Amino acid sequence: MTARERYVDLLMGCLTRELFLDQEGVAPDIRAEGRDWPATAETMVGRRRLDNVRQAVETVLVERVPGDLIETGVWRGGVTILMRGILAAWEDPDRRVWVADSFQGLPRPNIVDYPDDDGHDLSGVSALMVSADEVRDNFDRYGLLDDRVHFLEGWFADTLAPAPIEQIAVLRLDGDLYESTMDALVALYDRVSPGGFVIVDDYGAWEPCRKAVEDFRTDRNITDEIHEVDWTGVYWRTS
Ligand SMILES: C[S@@+](CC[C@H](N)C(=O)[O-])C[C@H]1O[C@@H](n2cnc3c(N)ncnc32)[C@H](O)[C@@H]1O
Repeated sequence: MTARERYVDLLMGCLTRELFLDQEGVAPDIRAEGRDWPATAETMVGRRRLDNVRQAVETVLVERVPGDLIETGVWRGGVTILMRGILAAWEDPDRRVWVADSFQGLPRPNIVDYPDDDGHDLSGVSALMVSADEVRDNFDRYGLLDDRVHFLEGWFADTLAPAPIEQIAVLRLDGDLYESTMDALVALYDRVSPGGFVIVDDYGAWEPCRKAVEDFRTDRNITDEIHEVDWTGVYWRTS
């Protein structure tokens, strides 16, 4: 194992708290599959989906697929911290990591425009409200808060379209709702480079999210094969 591999492994073990599960009182398979909302970990995405993020980022580095890395829906920031950590480990000189969130939890479903979100109101769930300062502190804890990390603070409908991102190599969607998923796809999909990755965290777990992805792909005639990551995550590579 190289030092780079050891660092990224260690980073994932810390971000998930997999290394300290005895202190968290959580069964290893629950955390590996990302099925709980951890008390302290910087991500609720389990090890399998983090492995997928690592594979995507390392693939675009090896294959020189141009563009930045972004997650829409970051919670405590763990996935984006991992993205920045991998860039650091690979001594990448210029790609940026975009950290997009309301930093005040999910929006109340707008069932007039997005009826698929009916019955999926998580807007009052305080566990999902993590401030931008807290996420910055989390980056800082790992020594990864620098000028290559950019925060997009606010609702996706307002922040993503005007964001000064030219090209995207990895687009990771984790906003749960139909509206949040569709807003991100509409604003960002055309900036994904050929060969880039589109990763959807909630495809299996959240019917509104799956519906938004299917509607978008149908509307845009996207036939790139969807690959399963685990019980909920999927990805495809853009042609
Ligand atoms: C399930 S959490 C993301 C989990 C995270 N990726 C991780 O690594 O643990 C969903 C996040 O999406 C954000 N979110 C959902 N819809 C949004 C929207 N329309 N605009 C901005 N943020 C949104 C919420 O604030 C929340 O932080």
